Amino acid sequence: MSSVEVRAQQPEPATSLIPTLPGAHYTDPALFEREQQRIFQKNWFAAARSSDLPEPGKFRTVDVGGESVLIVRGRDRSLRAFLNVCRHRGARLCMDDSGSVRRSLQCPYHAWTYGLDGKLIAAPNLNSMNDVNRDEYGLIGVALREWLGTVWVCLADEPPSFADTVQAAVSGRLGDGDVIEKWGIDELAVGRRITYDVKANWKLIVENFMECYHCATIHPELTEVLPEFADGYAAQYYVGHGAEFGEDITGFSIDGQTGFGTLAGVDEHHDRRYYAITVNPQVFINLVPDHVIFHRMYPMAVDRTIVECDWLYPQSVLDSGADLSKSVELFHRVNQQDFEACERCQPAMSSKAYAAGGVLVPSEHHIGEFRDWVADAISD
Ligand code: FES
Ligand code: FE
Repeated sequence: MSSVEVRAQQPEPATSLIPTLPGAHYTDPALFEREQQRIFQKNWFAAARSSDLPEPGKFRTVDVGGESVLIVRGRDRSLRAFLNVCRHRGARLCMDDSGSVRRSLQCPYHAWTYGLDGKLIAAPNLNSMNDVNRDEYGLIGVALREWLGTVWVCLADEPPSFADTVQAAVSGRLGDGDVIEKWGIDELAVGRRITYDVKANWKLIVENFMECYHCATIHPELTEVLPEFADGYAAQYYVGHGAEFGEDITGFSIDGQTGFGTLAGVDEHHDRRYYAITVNPQVFINLVPDHVIFHRMYPMAVDRTIVECDWLYPQSVLDSGADLSKSVELFHRVNQQDFEACERCQPAMSSKAYAAGGVLVPSEHHIGEFRDWVADAISD
């Protein structure tokens, strides 16, 4: 990788506009590979919702940093993560995105069989399993944490502090003394999941999420609910006090009316506000009074990103048979509008017009901080 030139920082121009990364950072497969190794393999990665794996034997496979990671709930009900690679001859153990096994994971190639704890328990035609060191040939474990009802994994041999990275990114975003636990995200249930296959580099999606400069032009429904956004201030500007609902708005929904009861832990101060939080490198969380919208991004290629978006509600709302459609529709449209914008930019990243990159307006300085975070991570 030493042949890859990383253009981490450009000189600030004489104007107050802030330079973005050069276009190659959105199109060069070698730079994407470097990001996989230096960013996605090194940091905590939100891989799944814990409730995707409700009982022993349920599994999910997810692409993280160029590796396939297998997450499975054990017979002790604990979640564990492994590299999805058989230790015999390297066959991919589970080909499906999700599924269920009974007691073990069996490789389809020569039937080496692993317990749900990753230990090798059987290998055909070996006279005795005593011939084989089961620990040595067990599945390779991946670090795993659960927080906010989310399964976070880290491929690094020595993962960074979860508190200093993931939790620190969230705390302090809600104003003094406020904590995300008030929204009770780990107790909420998935009311709706929509998976978007976006033909754009993952950084375009992060940068788009971090700005609200585009709200007035591409989000008519959102600015109806959050009139402050029509002024184009960055969403992160609202860190600490959130964006307030418009006067006639009673719910964060496509008609501005159809809401559900305020979540139990959410106090008056947050009752008519919207908060947007980014957790580097691939999570966006939107907090509104009656639900939470949780995005996980899976970078698949330099120009392709899968985004899995969950709309989370109290189980009681789901049990009541409430119609979620108007609630879901608002941010589904926002997502579609955002991803269309990202796909509009992606082909132009390879234009010579963008070889030196573009610019950010002053209110987007926090996107400049993201740019620096990425550049630092991939520079030598
Ligand atoms: Fe898995 Fe041979 S590769 S059992
Ligand atoms: Fe947007």
